[in-house]
Amino acid sequence: MGILSRIGIALDSDLLKRFDRLIARQGYTNRSEAFRDLIRDRLVTEQIAAPDSTVVGTITLIYDHHAHGVSEKLTELQHAHHELVVSTSHAHLDHDSCLEVLIVHGKSARVTQFADRIIGLKGVQHGRLVMTVPARPVEPAHAIGHKHTHKH
Ligand code: NI
Repeated sequence: MGILSRIGIALDSDLLKRFDRLIARQGYTNRSEAFRDLIRDRLVTEQIAAPDSTVVGTITLIYDHHAHGVSEKLTELQHAHHELVVSTSHAHLDHDSCLEVLIVHGKSARVTQFADRIIGLKGVQHGRLVMTVPARPVEPAHAIGHKHTHKH
Protein backbone atom coordinates (compact mmCIF):
# COMPACT_ATOMS: atom_id res chain seq x y z
CA MET A 1 0.00 0.00 0.00
CA GLY A 2 1.21 3.54 -0.78
CA ILE A 3 0.92 6.61 1.41
CA LEU A 4 -2.42 6.70 3.24
CA SER A 5 -4.78 9.62 2.63
CA ARG A 6 -7.64 10.25 4.99
CA ILE A 7 -10.97 11.37 3.57
CA GLY A 8 -14.29 12.25 5.15
CA ILE A 9 -17.51 11.21 3.44
CA ALA A 10 -20.98 12.58 4.11
CA LEU A 11 -23.56 9.78 3.85
CA ASP A 12 -27.27 9.45 4.31
CA SER A 13 -27.62 7.67 7.68
CA ASP A 14 -30.03 5.06 6.27
CA LEU A 15 -27.58 4.27 3.52
CA LEU A 16 -24.80 3.96 6.07
CA LYS A 17 -26.91 1.61 8.22
CA ARG A 18 -27.58 -0.62 5.23
CA PHE A 19 -23.91 -0.55 4.32
CA ASP A 20 -22.89 -1.46 7.88
CA ARG A 21 -25.32 -4.41 7.92
CA LEU A 22 -23.95 -5.64 4.61
CA ILE A 23 -20.31 -5.44 5.62
CA ALA A 24 -21.04 -7.05 9.01
CA ARG A 25 -22.55 -10.04 7.16
CA GLN A 26 -19.47 -10.14 4.94
CA GLY A 27 -17.23 -10.23 7.99
CA TYR A 28 -15.54 -6.84 7.68
CA THR A 29 -14.29 -5.51 10.99
CA ASN A 30 -13.91 -1.93 9.80
CA ARG A 31 -15.52 0.35 7.25
CA SER A 32 -12.27 1.52 5.71
CA GLU A 33 -11.39 -1.91 4.35
CA ALA A 34 -14.94 -2.36 3.04
CA PHE A 35 -14.78 1.02 1.27
CA ARG A 36 -11.36 0.21 -0.19
CA ASP A 37 -12.70 -3.10 -1.58
CA LEU A 38 -15.75 -1.36 -3.07
CA ILE A 39 -13.52 1.19 -4.79
CA ARG A 40 -11.15 -1.51 -6.09
CA ASP A 41 -14.10 -3.53 -7.40
CA ARG A 42 -15.44 -0.50 -9.25
CA LEU A 43 -12.01 0.24 -10.73
CA VAL A 44 -11.60 -3.38 -11.87
CA THR A 45 -15.06 -3.25 -13.48
CA GLU A 46 -13.97 -0.11 -15.33
CA GLN A 47 -10.69 -1.70 -16.50
CA ILE A 48 -12.41 -4.88 -17.67
CA ALA A 49 -14.77 -2.80 -19.79
CA ALA A 50 -11.84 -1.48 -21.82
CA PRO A 51 -11.44 -3.99 -24.70
CA ASP A 52 -7.64 -3.58 -24.78
CA SER A 53 -6.95 -4.12 -21.10
CA THR A 54 -5.19 -7.33 -20.11
CA VAL A 55 -7.31 -9.45 -17.85
CA VAL A 56 -7.07 -12.78 -16.06
CA GLY A 57 -10.12 -14.86 -15.34
CA THR A 58 -12.00 -18.11 -15.24
CA ILE A 59 -14.67 -19.64 -17.44
CA THR A 60 -16.77 -22.15 -15.53
CA LEU A 61 -18.78 -24.62 -17.60
CA ILE A 62 -21.31 -27.33 -16.89
CA TYR A 63 -22.03 -29.73 -19.71
CA ASP A 64 -23.25 -33.23 -20.47
CA HIS A 65 -20.40 -35.08 -22.14
CA HIS A 66 -22.95 -37.31 -23.95
CA ALA A 67 -24.37 -34.29 -25.77
CA HIS A 68 -23.49 -34.62 -29.41
CA GLY A 69 -19.87 -33.63 -30.06
CA VAL A 70 -19.63 -31.15 -27.19
CA SER A 71 -16.40 -32.57 -25.73
CA GLU A 72 -14.70 -32.47 -29.13
CA LYS A 73 -15.94 -28.96 -29.86
CA LEU A 74 -14.72 -27.71 -26.49
CA THR A 75 -11.26 -29.15 -27.11
CA GLU A 76 -11.16 -27.76 -30.64
CA LEU A 77 -12.13 -24.25 -29.54
CA GLN A 78 -9.58 -24.27 -26.74
CA HIS A 79 -6.80 -25.33 -29.10
CA ALA A 80 -7.84 -22.68 -31.61
CA HIS A 81 -7.43 -20.06 -28.84
CA HIS A 82 -4.58 -21.68 -26.90
CA GLU A 83 -2.90 -18.29 -26.44
CA LEU A 84 -5.83 -17.32 -24.18
CA VAL A 85 -6.06 -20.55 -22.17
CA VAL A 86 -3.55 -20.86 -19.35
CA SER A 87 -4.91 -24.11 -17.92
CA THR A 88 -8.04 -26.19 -17.54
CA SER A 89 -9.44 -28.35 -14.78
CA HIS A 90 -12.13 -30.97 -15.23
CA ALA A 91 -14.34 -32.78 -12.73
CA HIS A 92 -16.75 -35.59 -13.62
CA LEU A 93 -19.69 -34.67 -11.40
CA ASP A 94 -21.74 -37.81 -12.09
CA HIS A 95 -22.44 -40.21 -14.98
CA ASP A 96 -23.46 -37.37 -17.29
CA SER A 97 -22.38 -33.99 -16.00
CA CYS A 98 -18.95 -32.43 -16.32
CA LEU A 99 -17.64 -29.31 -14.64
CA GLU A 100 -14.79 -27.60 -16.42
CA VAL A 101 -12.91 -24.49 -15.35
CA LEU A 102 -10.60 -22.69 -17.76
CA ILE A 103 -8.09 -20.16 -16.52
CA VAL A 104 -7.83 -17.48 -19.17
CA HIS A 105 -5.50 -14.53 -19.75
CA GLY A 106 -5.50 -11.95 -22.52
CA LYS A 107 -7.16 -8.82 -23.85
CA SER A 108 -10.57 -8.27 -22.35
CA ALA A 109 -12.40 -8.21 -25.70
CA ARG A 110 -10.77 -11.43 -26.93
CA VAL A 111 -11.36 -13.27 -23.66
CA THR A 112 -15.03 -12.18 -23.69
CA GLN A 113 -15.49 -13.29 -27.31
CA PHE A 114 -13.88 -16.65 -26.57
CA ALA A 115 -16.04 -17.15 -23.47
CA ASP A 116 -19.20 -16.28 -25.44
CA ARG A 117 -18.38 -18.91 -28.06
CA ILE A 118 -17.55 -21.59 -25.48
CA ILE A 119 -20.62 -20.89 -23.34
CA GLY A 120 -22.80 -20.73 -26.45
CA LEU A 121 -21.78 -24.21 -27.64
CA LYS A 122 -24.66 -26.62 -28.06
CA GLY A 123 -24.50 -29.00 -25.11
CA VAL A 124 -23.07 -26.49 -22.62
CA GLN A 125 -25.84 -26.16 -20.03
CA HIS A 126 -24.43 -23.20 -18.13
CA GLY A 127 -21.31 -21.14 -18.20
CA ARG A 128 -19.94 -18.03 -16.60
CA LEU A 129 -16.93 -15.82 -17.25
CA VAL A 130 -15.32 -14.01 -14.33
CA MET A 131 -12.60 -11.48 -15.14
CA THR A 132 -10.31 -9.46 -12.96
CA VAL A 133 -7.24 -7.29 -13.34
CA PRO A 134 -4.21 -7.85 -11.13
CA ALA A 135 -2.84 -4.79 -9.33
CA ARG A 136 0.45 -5.18 -11.20
CA PRO A 137 0.62 -6.19 -14.87
CA VAL A 138 1.19 -9.92 -15.38
CA GLU A 139 3.46 -11.65 -17.88
CA PRO A 140 2.21 -12.62 -21.34
CA ALA A 141 -0.16 -15.55 -21.81
CA HIS A 142 1.17 -18.98 -20.94
CA ALA A 143 3.85 -17.66 -18.62
CA ILE A 144 1.49 -18.20 -15.67
CA GLY A 145 0.70 -21.78 -16.62
CA HIS A 146 4.33 -22.80 -16.93
CA LYS A 147 5.44 -21.73 -13.51
CA HIS A 148 4.20 -24.74 -11.57
CA THR A 149 6.72 -27.24 -10.39
CA HIS A 150 4.57 -30.32 -10.98
CA LYS A 151 4.81 -32.45 -14.13
CA HIS A 152 2.01 -32.32 -16.72
NI1 NI B 1 -16.32 -35.32 -17.26
